[in-house]
Amino acid sequence: MIKIKVCIGSACHVKGSRRVVEGLQFQIAENGLKDKINLGGVFCMGKCQEGVCVTVNDKFCSVDPDKVEDFFKDEVLPLTK
Ligand code: FES
Repeated sequence: MIKIKVCIGSACHVKGSRRVVEGLQFQIAENGLKDKINLGGVFCMGKCQEGVCVTVNDKFCSVDPDKVEDFFKDEVLPLTK
């Protein structure tokens, strides 16, 4: 199971964490990965400057809400293969 956590603390929220969550939900459904990916929210990771903060398993990533699809292809899909 791949664990993706999106920061929903206030700084990341302002930077678009909600759109990141929605984008990830879309990508997970689109790729038929509901059984392989556990998507959740976490509060502030202490890296507010780098938001939107996301971890994939334990790897820290900074995700642009406009580039969720690229992020998913680069960081998540390879783990499902
Ligand atoms: S609010 Fe996301 S790291 Fe602080």
